[in-house]
Amino acid sequence: MASNAVIQNGGIPPLSDMIQAEFDFDKTSTIWKELLVLARQPGVCNLGQGCPDYNGHQVAREAAVQAMLDPDKSALNQYSMPAGLKSLQDAVCAYYNNVYGLREGQAKRAITPENVLITVGATEGLYNSMKALVGPGDEVILFNPGFPFYLPMIRLMGATPVFVELDGPDFAPDLEKFEKAITPKTRVLLLNSPHNPCGHCYTKEEIEGFARLALKYNLFVLSDEVYENTTFGDAKHLRLADEEGMFERTITLCSASKLFSLTGWRVGWALSTPELLKGLNVSHCMTSYCAPTPLQHGLAVALEAEDGTFEGIPKLVEGNAELLGSALREKGFGVTQPEGGHFLVADTSPLGLKGVECAKLMLANAKVSVVPGIIFYFADPNADETVDIDRPLLRFALCKRRDTIEEAVRRIRQMTFPPIPPPEIH
Ligand SMILES: Cc1ncc(COP(=O)(O)O)c(C=O)c1O
Repeated sequence: MASNAVIQNGGIPPLSDMIQAEFDFDKTSTIWKELLVLARQPGVCNLGQGCPDYNGHQVAREAAVQAMLDPDKSALNQYSMPAGLKSLQDAVCAYYNNVYGLREGQAKRAITPENVLITVGATEGLYNSMKALVGPGDEVILFNPGFPFYLPMIRLMGATPVFVELDGPDFAPDLEKFEKAITPKTRVLLLNSPHNPCGHCYTKEEIEGFARLALKYNLFVLSDEVYENTTFGDAKHLRLADEEGMFERTITLCSASKLFSLTGWRVGWALSTPELLKGLNVSHCMTSYCAPTPLQHGLAVALEAEDGTFEGIPKLVEGNAELLGSALREKGFGVTQPEGGHFLVADTSPLGLKGVECAKLMLANAKVSVVPGIIFYFADPNADETVDIDRPLLRFALCKRRDTIEEAVRRIRQMTFPPIPPPEIH
């Protein structure tokens, strides 16, 4: 295969088989890229990407700027230890041991700095945790739909994804289906709560069920909890690692992108035992060595000062979910009211529309950009058929200023259904 490819590429060697396989496999990224470009056009209300349009945490930004400019803090502009700046590790511990436990109304297991590894966002934490835990021949169980990066990460390890479908309208996990997916090759359960895109928060019963299965079948868990501070109404964020016997087999991934609305800083952390973090640290050192030091400092200062309210952002997101949810219901969408996280999903089938069709229509007729649900559905690599592009689901980002959501709602209310056909996007 290599010699043919060399000739075809005019003498340039081909990319690795693993990367080439990702290009060939990826069926949805073209839709996503097209919509991202269109969403940036002037006058568009962008509820597409989960990227805040408000300022990130003020205390963190001020402290980071100071660290960058203060001649007495020049060391804060150099490498930190790979596991993280000690002040941030300490602040993470203080936050989880004190503020977080109080907010969620439960006694939590105390963590120490050896349980904290600072990563370049949760993305890097997830990738390198995966690297530490699985390889060719291993199976990873994950829910479908989910955060799109999970699948390429598993595939890049040479491991096999096994999907368990989440059913609407609540998209809660079915533990029986989940157990049936476990085989002797299963190594990792990949969980996410609050969930992107569906907004479900695991209940105590579900958390206990996952823990029971992980212990029964001797599995690791990667628990993606990046939206941990954003739960609505009576929903609470529950940590799987707090269950008896689970801390030892769980890596919990957290993110300053979401906690502090600083998606461009690329800082997150992994919480686990020193043994599991040692594994993660091997490839963490080889991919990034450490997260940006002055930004780690800024986050340490902000986290020390944090009382759990995060400058009111979780409350803003909750209010946005209520406003948008009721406007979409009025318009005839089937709305899954989220229990947490930064997104709301809506079923377009009551309007007689498919997801991609409806997303294009909203962009063309109301200048509101949203993401078709298909982007969050993983295609089974073993299935021959192409992706079911017709899924009637849309995802709306809620991490937006109140006036952005109000404007989007105003435009959506003015839309008429059944649709005026939109122009083709090419
Ligand atoms: C569920 C989930 N996990 C992980 C990430 C990545 O977070 P980070 O920006 O910290 O890399 C995202 C980002 O949107 C996400 O939605």
